Amino acid sequence: MTAIAPGNRYLVGCGVALLLAGCEHPPVETVQHGYRGTGMVEVYNPRQVASLAPDNALPEPIAAASAEGPRAREVFKNLRVLGDVSVGELTRTMSAMTAWVAPEQGCAYCHAAGQDLSVDALYTKVVARRMLQMTQYLNSNWQSHVAGTGVTCYTCHRGHNIPAYLWFTAPDQAQANRAMGNRAQQNAPAASVGLAALPNDPFTPFLLGADEIRIVGGTPLPTGNRKSIKQAEWTYGLMTHISEALGVNCTYCHNSRSFASWDSSTPQRATAWYGIRMVRALNNDYLAPLTATFPTPRLGPSGDVAKIHCATCHQGVYKPLYGASMLKDYPVLAAPVVAPPPPVAEAPPPADSAVVLFGVGSARLPADAGSILDALILNLKSSPDAKATISGYHSAAGVLAQNQDLAKRRAFAVRDALHAAGVPVGRIVLERPRSAEANLSGEDPRARRVEVSIH
Ligand code: HEC
Ligand code: HEC
Ligand code: HEC
Ligand code: HEC
Repeated sequence: MTAIAPGNRYLVGCGVALLLAGCEHPPVETVQHGYRGTGMVEVYNPRQVASLAPDNALPEPIAAASAEGPRAREVFKNLRVLGDVSVGELTRTMSAMTAWVAPEQGCAYCHAAGQDLSVDALYTKVVARRMLQMTQYLNSNWQSHVAGTGVTCYTCHRGHNIPAYLWFTAPDQAQANRAMGNRAQQNAPAASVGLAALPNDPFTPFLLGADEIRIVGGTPLPTGNRKSIKQAEWTYGLMTHISEALGVNCTYCHNSRSFASWDSSTPQRATAWYGIRMVRALNNDYLAPLTATFPTPRLGPSGDVAKIHCATCHQGVYKPLYGASMLKDYPVLAAPVVAPPPPVAEAPPPADSAVVLFGVGSARLPADAGSILDALILNLKSSPDAKATISGYHSAAGVLAQNQDLAKRRAFAVRDALHAAGVPVGRIVLERPRSAEANLSGEDPRARRVEVSIH
């Protein structure tokens, strides 16, 4: 599990990230980024920085239009997003969108030639309307990430119909590689994760789904530590993407002494945390609902729509377009979203009790404990005053003291699992071990259960 990024900027090995400034062609420049002595420096190769400059040049802003006069919706017929702007501003926004997304095709890219401009004949116009809403949503709801700088269509499109950096869900390899077994998307160096043999699609679980991006467990022993090596590999896959997308080292956000610790991380890590949530919202609420609108050739190998990751906006730079704001010239793109808010993905119904069944004579958490406890943990997190009571049961057969000890250790394992998932110990109440109901035989797994209830 060793990876050297194309720029040879850094090496990730078994959870240890080393800064290898020596791998860069000299001369390189370094900029101190964290506290003195922490080794948190950014290594810049001036030649690479220079090569990125043309891609980040800004197009000329289009001359301002008069805000006076009738509103666009009084003159035009089919405006669902831009109705409140002046007629001049509407025309100006159309010219800007043309320059940013379809400079070669012109207005005809979205407006079918020979038809009235109000007709929604082409899929590109339908998509563009949704993109207008998405851009407004980004600028008005995600200032925790995009700040006042904001984004325009140009941030992603840069004069192209399709943004240069996108991702699709990787097809299921269990079918394609039957003879080799399911490779779980590994051991085939993939550009998406800096040519490492890490899982090559860390995007589906983390940037469409909301899997936990964690490696470090909360307890030293495996009891309750639900962080596995597999989960670690996916996390590293995403982190490699993030570093490449922003053109920075791991130490731009982390102190490599402890990747998990927020206390020793930089403020940029918090911005990135919001960025991850923002990207999930864009993919789920704006892109995925467009799947049926796009023609088949635009869809991915699994029939899914093209989606956004960090590189879609950043394109190799720590702030898209080096932090220049085009939004200030196009305030209409920052208007609060006019359309009803997009549907929010439904969370699983929070549970207020759960039962974990243990093996005979064992206090080891069963493999399915995580999924059994998830809905309950969600509930605990959303109601900060609630407490969880844990009761361990043992069968009536056998030596009582041994049985009670076992029931206690089972209850501890469940407590550790809750704690590892972020529930403070103070909110967990442990009850004395109990004897299971007399009608349950020793073979019945319910005689070896641990019950958790929220109150
Ligand atoms: C990238 C796609 C795209 C391009 C290119 C584009 N438009 Fe549009 N146009 C739209 C969308 C989307 C709407 C509807 C906006 C809304 O619902 O508020 C629209 C609406 C309009 C309308 C209002 C029509 C009505 O009656 O409702 C006019 C006029 C217009 N565009 C003119 C132009 C002109 C002129 C150009 C070329 C300079 C152009 N557009 C280029 C996407 C585009
Ligand atoms: C955050 C990134 C992002 C922003 C901002 C953005 N887009 Fe897009 N756009 C995408 C992605 C991703 C796709 C899907 C790519 C595809 O078409 O396969 C897309 C597709 C499109 C398409 C369809 C292109 C085609 O030929 O399939 C149009 C038209 C479009 N965008 C217009 C716009 C307009 C107009 C704006 C600004 C109001 C805008 N986009 C802002 C990411 C973005
Ligand atoms: C732009 C900022 C940024 C960069 C660069 C970055 N990370 Fe992260 N990293 C984060 C954020 C944010 C999280 C937490 C994600 C969450 O909780 O949703 C995280 C989480 C992690 C974790 C999980 C810690 C835990 O709690 O178990 C590890 C390990 C990690 N990163 C390693 C790396 C490595 C290795 C690199 C370089 C290849 C890297 N990161 C680059 C922002 C960054
Ligand atoms: C929709 C476009 C967009 C996407 C997608 C996006 N970002 Fe950003 N990001 C921005 C903008 C714009 C800024 C600049 C904000 C500012 O000026 O402070 C920014 C700033 C940042 C910064 C702060 C940099 C600094 O030096 O202060 C970090 C870190 C960052 N982004 C990480 C990420 C990560 C990680 C992802 C993917 C999970 C991501 N971004 C996805 C638009 C985007």
